[in-house]
Amino acid sequence: MTTATEALARAADTARLAPSVHNTQPWRWVVRGDRLELFAVTDRQLHEQDPAGRLMLLSCGAALHHARVALDAEGWTHRVERPAGEPLAVVHAEHAGPADPSAMRRLQLLQVRRTDRRAVSDEPVPPEVRQALTAAAGRGGARLELLHRDRVLELAVMVEHAGDAERHDERMQAETAAWVGGDRPAGTGLPDAVIPVELPLTTVAERDFGVSGTLRAGAGHDTAAAYAVLYGDGDEPADWLRAGEALSEVWLTATEHGAAVLPLSSPVELDFTRQALRRMLGEVGYPYLVLRLGINDPDHAGPAHTPRLPVEQVIDIED
Ligand SMILES: Cc1cc2nc3c(=O)[nH]c(=O)nc-3n(C[C@H](O)[C@H](O)[C@H](O)COP(=O)(O)O)c2cc1C
Repeated sequence: MTTATEALARAADTARLAPSVHNTQPWRWVVRGDRLELFAVTDRQLHEQDPAGRLMLLSCGAALHHARVALDAEGWTHRVERPAGEPLAVVHAEHAGPADPSAMRRLQLLQVRRTDRRAVSDEPVPPEVRQALTAAAGRGGARLELLHRDRVLELAVMVEHAGDAERHDERMQAETAAWVGGDRPAGTGLPDAVIPVELPLTTVAERDFGVSGTLRAGAGHDTAAAYAVLYGDGDEPADWLRAGEALSEVWLTATEHGAAVLPLSSPVELDFTRQALRRMLGEVGYPYLVLRLGINDPDHAGPAHTPRLPVEQVIDIED
């Protein structure tokens, strides 16, 4: 029988696998007895592309969700407290029970999940999968709007404008370069293996990391891809954290259904495109992230896993 402290330390360890913008992993955990505290690490925030810390907190939210899935899988009931400010969240381990088989399955999904920048196949995302993803966003505390074709074309223009603005901003360029090579903490950032040799043909442009990687992205045009906006009612730090939890829930559900997810964050990084996205949603909420969804060829292995920071750098165990 494991103690709460051991289970929480293991949950924080599992949370290292969470997705994060540019693989910055901007989180730190402190385990104190039966409490697990989550902090944002502003040293690994993208200060140029993400000055308000929205994407940093989204990333922390994804890590929080991962930690909770790990606790569920071990049969630990828990409660999450969300203080205003720091820590961002405190997970209280409550009772140990039998391991939950469906949560164990989710833990496996979390271990295989990854960002896929290859061109998607010609197979459309089936309606039941779209529905499952929308429901997943709701469970996670946000909403997912799957865009109709005319909206996708509008999105493509926004993403192009955001990409142009970022390409012409030397500081943003330098910041991106620092996470795709350059001088950065070991165990973070994007290796060549996950960056396409050439950007694939897509309706909505993928992020141009400014380097050519080694990922064979495949031929063909992603006409079967679906594009969606993750959004919600508020635009405050607590909402961005929730958005990250919803992102993780959507991503695990997509992985379960064999669907690939590619987040596109440049349109939410810049004020003018974020406002344009909000108008496109009919001002019913605040956009957090754009997602490309698609079905990939199951016969071809997906891209490599990105590296992670060592445990000692992200988890402190205190008495
Ligand atoms: C908030 C957020 C924003 C992201 N934005 C982008 C993006 O604009 N373009 C992209 O190619 N990947 C994006 N990603 C994917 C990350 O680069 C990816 O999660 C990270 O490199 C870790 O790799 P993994 O997801 O394969 O584990 C984003 C991820 C998160 C959580």
